[in-house]
Amino acid sequence: MKLPFFLAKRFVAGETFKSAVPKIEALNKKKIKVTLDLLGENVKLKTTADETVNEYISLLNDIHSAGLKSTISIKLTMLGLDIDELYCRDNLYKLLDEARKSDSFVRIDMEGSDYTQQTIDVFKEVFKEYGKHVGIVIQAYLHRTKDDINDLAELGADVRLCKGAYNEPERVALQKMSDIREAFKEYSKVLLDKTSYPRIATHDDELVNWVKDYSVENKIGKARFEFQMLYGLREETMEQLTNDGYNTRVYVPYGTMWFPYFKRRLMERKENIFFIFTTMFKK
Ligand code: FDA
Repeated sequence: MKLPFFLAKRFVAGETFKSAVPKIEALNKKKIKVTLDLLGENVKLKTTADETVNEYISLLNDIHSAGLKSTISIKLTMLGLDIDELYCRDNLYKLLDEARKSDSFVRIDMEGSDYTQQTIDVFKEVFKEYGKHVGIVIQAYLHRTKDDINDLAELGADVRLCKGAYNEPERVALQKMSDIREAFKEYSKVLLDKTSYPRIATHDDELVNWVKDYSVENKIGKARFEFQMLYGLREETMEQLTNDGYNTRVYVPYGTMWFPYFKRRLMERKENIFFIFTTMFKK
């Protein structure tokens, strides 16, 4: 059964690029940049992965022609990682060729822990060739991140740090919010100290304030990093950060395959579920 889109519209900008454009323009007008995510994951057929690469390429062109301040975020399982890693890499090469031509940027989102090693391997491979046109995401809750973060920082990678959105077992990931927050702070420190432009992705005031304080104490200018949040969450906070002179970017998902993303947002916070119920009655 397909749920009606109006339920997801708090978190998803539209089912098509065209319907998402006004929302991107409104954010850009407030000096908030965007990263666009064509929703979907775990593609099992080459025909679908091929279509996805073409859609991502059109998206880069559409962003460019519409003059939007937006990069794109992608998932390797959308490019065929479940089918064959080499095939997925070839697809990523095709996309990055286009990104380089339009001087754009492709962020590789991080998926569940079964994909972490492959995602990092593929990223390292393409980073050698596409440098400033490609970045990766690191999840603070994973135990392995204490090694990955230093490794990627040494490499000079462009890293988005987030807590991690997937249900991971104790042997793989920290479970307690206080531990995850401490890890997030430790890894923010590594990125702020060692990389040129870290992306701090969280809605958590404790972490946002910690990063602000750390940057002031260590004379790290506001232009040296960026705060990122998800579409539909904490818009006022984003505006405030922007007005206070911080660089900000909103992750804007769109597309018809919105259910898994929507479900993750609901699982994250009970307030989000409450919001959906009120939306249902306000329709
Ligand atoms: P969390 O949900 O942990 O909440 C902590 C506290 O923050 C709350 O108790 C509350 O005080 C405050 N808060 C949170 N939301 C609020 C709201 N709406 N209003 C008011 N207060 C609020 N994950 C992943 O696995 N791979 C990825 O590639 C990405 N990419 C990504 C990009 C961007 C831009 C963001 C912001 C996040 C991701 N994530 C992700 C998701 C991420 O891993 C994580 O699941 C969510 O950001 C939730 O964690 P938070 O730290 O944001 O708040």
